[in-house]
Amino acid sequence: MDDSNNKRSFEIIIVGAGTLGFPEQGYLRLPNVDALHIGISGIIAAQRYLEAHPKCRLTLLEKDYCIGGVFSTSEDLTRYDYRCFPVDRQPGRSYTEFWTQWTVGMAEYSDMPMERPPDEDCRSDCFKAKYTTEYLEKYVDHMQHDGRPLREKIKFGIQVRSIEKVNDKWELSCIDARNSPVMFSTVKLMIANGENSLPNMPDLPGKKFFEGTIVHSENFGESNIISSKTSKHVAVIGAGKSAADMVYETVKAGKTVSWIIRKTGTGPGFFAPIDMKTPYRNGLEAAQTRAMSSLQPSILNPDTLWAWFLHSTVFGAAIIKWLFSRLDAAVRKRADYRGRKNTQGFKKLEYNTE
Ligand SMILES: Cc1cc2nc3c(=O)[nH]c(=O)nc-3n(C[C@H](O)[C@H](O)[C@H](O)COP(=O)(O)OP(=O)(O)OC[C@H]3O[C@@H](n4cnc5c(N)ncnc54)[C@H](O)[C@@H]3O)c2cc1C
Ligand SMILES: NC(=O)c1ccc[n+]([C@@H]2O[C@H](COP(=O)([O-])OP(=O)(O)OC[C@H]3O[C@@H](n4cnc5c(N)ncnc54)[C@H](OP(=O)(O)O)[C@@H]3O)[C@@H](O)[C@H]2O)c1
Repeated sequence: MDDSNNKRSFEIIIVGAGTLGFPEQGYLRLPNVDALHIGISGIIAAQRYLEAHPKCRLTLLEKDYCIGGVFSTSEDLTRYDYRCFPVDRQPGRSYTEFWTQWTVGMAEYSDMPMERPPDEDCRSDCFKAKYTTEYLEKYVDHMQHDGRPLREKIKFGIQVRSIEKVNDKWELSCIDARNSPVMFSTVKLMIANGENSLPNMPDLPGKKFFEGTIVHSENFGESNIISSKTSKHVAVIGAGKSAADMVYETVKAGKTVSWIIRKTGTGPGFFAPIDMKTPYRNGLEAAQTRAMSSLQPSILNPDTLWAWFLHSTVFGAAIIKWLFSRLDAAVRKRADYRGRKNTQGFKKLEYNTE
C-alpha cells in the first residue's frame, strides 16, 4: 500500500537479508540514528515475525541482489530463481577458499536441518561457506507465507541511506537499483545490516599511478584476481581473517604474495588450529558452549555467581589466565613460528597480543 506522499508503507520493515548473526551483531551505522540493536539477523527475524503475525505487512530491504550478506555467492546462481536480479550486477562475496567458522549442526535454523556437506568439503566439521549460501537459498524458498515463499518478501537492490522518526512512524530514505530515490515508511523497524557491510578502504597514497587492480576483501570473490593471468604478484594489506584467506587463496593459485601488516596497529592475527583437542568436535564448537563463553567477560553473559567468581576475584582471574596461557602455548607450539625451515618471513607472523 502506498500513502499519499508516494511512500511505500509497511507494518514492519527489516533492513538486510543477511545470515544468522548473534545478538551483538546487526547494529545500525547510518546517519541520523544513534544505535539500534536487534537480536537476530534479517532472514530469521522475518521468518519468526511472520510465524507470530501471519497477516502483517512485512518487507525486507536488501541493498544487494542476493541473500546471505557475507555468505552471498558468486557461484552458479542459475539454479535459483533470481527474478529481481539485474543482469549487469553480479552478486557474491564468497570465494573458493572461504570456509565457515561454524560446524555442521551449528549453522542451521531450528525449523530446517542442513544436509551434511560431502566429506571432501569438510575439515574438522567446518565446511566450505558455499553450503551455508545454498542452505539459505533453500530456506527462503522453502518457508512459505500465504502460499508464497519468504524470498518474495525481500526487495532487492534497495539501499537504505537514512532513517528518521516522524511522529509515530519510521521514514526510510533509500535508493533503488537505478540510483533513484525511494521512500518507505513503517511502524516497526528492525535493523539487521550486519557488522561487515561497510568496507573500510585505507587511503593509499599514489593509488592513481598504480596500474594493477586494487580490491577490498568484500569484492575479492567477484574480482578476477585468481583467474587473471596478468595478476602474478599480489600484495595483501591487513592481518585479520580476510587477509589470511586472501593470502591462502592467492598462494594456492600459484601467485607470489607479499603480506603487509602495519607495525602501528595490533599486528599479526591470532589463528588457532581447527583440530586442537577439546571435548567437542573442534575449538569453534567448544567456544560456542556456555562454559567456554563464560570465560570471557561480556555484557551478554548472565550476571551469575560463577561470572562474579571468574571475573571479579583474584582466584577466578588466575584460573582464566592459566587456561588461556595453556591455549596460547599450544597455538604457538603448533605454529612453530621460529623453527620452520624454508619459510621466508614466517616468524614475522608471530602475534604479540595477549
Ligand atoms: C568474510 C567473512 C566471513 C565470516 N565467516 C563467519 C563464520 O564462518 N562464522 C561466523 O560466526 N561469523 C562469520 N563472520 C562474521 C559474520 O559477519 C556473521 O557471522 C554473520 O554473517 C552476520 O550476519 P548478519 O545477518 O548480521 O550480517 P550480514 O551477513 O552482513 O548481512 C547484512 C545484510 O544487510 C545488507 N545491508 C547492509 N546495509 C544495508 C543498507 N544500508 N540497506 C539495505 N541493506 C543493507 C547487506 O547487503 C547484507 O545482506 C564472517 C564475516 C566475514 C566478513
Ligand atoms: N572464513 C571466515 O570465516 C572469515 C573470513 C574473513 C573474515 N571473517 C570474520 O570477519 C570479521 C572481520 O575480519 P576481517 O579480517 O575482514 O577484518 P579485521 O579483523 O578488522 O582485520 C582488518 C585488518 O586490516 C588492518 N587494517 C585496517 N586498516 C588499515 C590501514 N589503514 N592500513 C593497514 N592495515 C589496516 C587491521 O590492522 P590493525 O589491527 O592494526 O587495525 C587488521 O589487521 C572477523 O570477525 C572475522 O573472523 C571470517
